[in-house]
Amino acid sequence: MAIACIEDYRGAARRRLPRFLFDYIDGGSYAETTMRANVADLERLSLRQRVMRDVSGAQLETRMLGRSVSMPVALAPIGLAGLYARRGEVQAARVAEAAGVPFILSASACCGLEEVAPAVQAPLLFQLYMIKDRAFMAALLDRARAAGVETLVMTVDLIIHSPRYRDMRSTLTGRQTVLDRLRRMIEIARHPGWAWDVGVRGRPHILGNFAPAMPGGAGLAQFTDWVSRNFDPSITWDDLAWVRERWKGPLVLKGILDPDDARLACEAGASAIVVSNHGGRQLDGAPSTISALRPVVEAVEGKLEVLMDGGIRSGVDVLRALASGASGVLLGRAWAFALAAGGGASVSHMLELLRHELAVAMALTGYSRIADIGPEALLRTERAAS
Ligand SMILES: Cc1cc2nc3c(=O)[nH]c(=O)nc-3n(C[C@H](O)[C@H](O)[C@H](O)COP(=O)(O)O)c2cc1C
Repeated sequence: MAIACIEDYRGAARRRLPRFLFDYIDGGSYAETTMRANVADLERLSLRQRVMRDVSGAQLETRMLGRSVSMPVALAPIGLAGLYARRGEVQAARVAEAAGVPFILSASACCGLEEVAPAVQAPLLFQLYMIKDRAFMAALLDRARAAGVETLVMTVDLIIHSPRYRDMRSTLTGRQTVLDRLRRMIEIARHPGWAWDVGVRGRPHILGNFAPAMPGGAGLAQFTDWVSRNFDPSITWDDLAWVRERWKGPLVLKGILDPDDARLACEAGASAIVVSNHGGRQLDGAPSTISALRPVVEAVEGKLEVLMDGGIRSGVDVLRALASGASGVLLGRAWAFALAAGGGASVSHMLELLRHELAVAMALTGYSRIADIGPEALLRTERAAS
């Protein structure tokens, strides 16, 4: 069957990937309440249908994260993308550039800075977590600079790993018995397309950015172990000042949900924030991002750019986010699923679908320019509620 929408890419990814990898992408933390709310609260948001407003010649181009973009959409940092398709981060970065949208390279990428940066013309955006070993972190910032990164995205909502039941059940995390390993091999054998293309030809399966810190090997098992020892739950806003001293370029804070934290982000000198709950993969019970957005936008009083992610599954969702005050959105699972389903070509197709959906949604709500989309796009009852 032909692919019509992002949800179809989820189905295609499910067929292509070994189950433990699909579950890693698709799943959230605990009972996945927040993950589901991200999608459900967006879907619930009603838009005003407007008619006969001459929306010919609509323009989706705008500015986001300090650059001109073909639409207000970026590819969110996604870990382990090199396990979804062969050298997945390189493929996605190239496609994003061709489509005129920013690509944010995850700290936990398989393909490291030195592999991805030369594959594209424009400067990369690089995501990082606060790491206990500050000497390593300083060295990583130097590597990012050397690779031409201009914008640093600090993810602040993953100071500790949240329980993800699906990963525990699939033994992606936790202890593995011999039987578990055998099951994993059988699961891989049941997906020969993936096994050959990614499992064999997509090697090495290491975490390129962290490899120098893991002399014992930078495979998945070593990474999980390293993460639990090196992610830093003790961080405060003072540690961010440490980063600020070493990173003079634009700094984006990803993982802000609360208006008070948003105000602190302004004081910390962030140039943008991403309203995010890590796709419902961290605090289950946290509000959906679309419901958290408006109070955050009001708190920052236009002092910095506010982006959002979580649950964006269509061009209509992009419009809903813009109407709720975001100046752009990040796509997480949408591009991970497309990449898994068919590599860079599918990410490119997914972005085309999204662009068309956004253009049509703009036309039917009466907008020709991204900058004009505001709260008036929402039904009055929605505006009162948000
Ligand atoms: C498989 C997967 C891996 C992720 N890896 C990272 C990561 O390495 N760094 C990060 O800041 N966020 C990571 N995230 C969170 C995304 O950047 C983004 O916030 C989230 O996926 C948005 O929600 P959505 O998937 O519903 O679009 C990851 C999300 C998923 C689904």
